[in-house]
Amino acid sequence: MRIVVLHGPNLNLLGRRQPELYGNTTLEEINDDLGRLAEELEIDITYEQHNGEGALIEAVHAAEQADALLINPAAYTHTSIALRDALLAMAIPTWSVHLTEPKAREDFRKIDLIEDVCVGRTAGSGAASYREALRELVSWLHMRAKKPHL
Ligand code: DQA
Repeated sequence: MRIVVLHGPNLNLLGRRQPELYGNTTLEEINDDLGRLAEELEIDITYEQHNGEGALIEAVHAAEQADALLINPAAYTHTSIALRDALLAMAIPTWSVHLTEPKAREDFRKIDLIEDVCVGRTAGSGAASYREALRELVSWLHMRAKKPHL
């Protein structure tokens, strides 16, 4: 089972970007942690981070052969119809993840343009959201393998 993890804009700055909101954990530490969890879950994962909307969309296109996507589109969550369309076009099971709970923040973050095209969403547990999300996504994939009609 191969899962592609995609991180959106400004997440390369984690650790020093608004630590009061996003915490002190760096993106590299999050990826390392996911790598350890992936070994435990016996799956393969790859990671990419893109600041540009086009690059993020191209990474979605390139993930066509993967079994699933785990994505934190960051601010594009609230703005990118193009990202939503790419996810629909690829039809790869996608789980969205956020460090904070955007719906508990400013009104413009309450809009989530990809939520309803994802098979699940995890938010609000800081860096631990990623671990939770990967576990949930893998459980979802195992469940679907047992009940393919769902
Ligand atoms: C975020 C929430 C978004 O609203 C914000 O633009 C981000 C990070 C999160 O992980 O909490 O960049 O996706």
